[in-house]
Amino acid sequence: MKRNIILIGFMGAGKTSFGKWLAKEKCMEFVDTDEMIVKSQGVSIPEIFEKQGEECFRDMETALIRKFVEEGRNNLVLSVGGGLPVRKQNRELLKELGLVIYLRATVDTLCERLRGDTGRPLLQGGDVRNRILTLMEKRAALYEDGAERIIDTDGRTFEEILEKMEEDRK
Ligand code: S3P
Repeated sequence: MKRNIILIGFMGAGKTSFGKWLAKEKCMEFVDTDEMIVKSQGVSIPEIFEKQGEECFRDMETALIRKFVEEGRNNLVLSVGGGLPVRKQNRELLKELGLVIYLRATVDTLCERLRGDTGRPLLQGGDVRNRILTLMEKRAALYEDGAERIIDTDGRTFEEILEKMEEDRK
């Protein structure tokens, strides 16, 4: 395995919950880009989007993962925000950092998990399913491009996801 494990995927795909479990299992350090940005800015993600705009948030994401690469960080399970892999530059930085895994979930599952969510600015207003579908249409191929492994998570336990992850193929 490469030195870090990076989890990418849509909002609600389970990157954070699986990532925390995985880090414990593998005695690695868990890091979440959203959490780090909120901590360093001292404000919530909706506030960053509202006051500074999405592009500014995206720049913060890029700066953060670039710093990880420059610092030569290792032994991390890194869960990244759902929109972070949209930038090509970010997909390249993530690949430099370690093994990138796309946790894929079906739209039905995502809908179930994200309905009523108030903490994710891109899902506010209108029908959540339509918002997910629109974003997924733009992002699915980018997630695939950015990942070395793709794991379908629906109906799988964390142990089963890990088993899949360790199989040596995409
Ligand atoms: C976003 C996903 C969120 C967070 C922000 C934007 C996105 O992270 O970074 O609300 O563009 O998909 P999670 O994927 O952890 O929910």
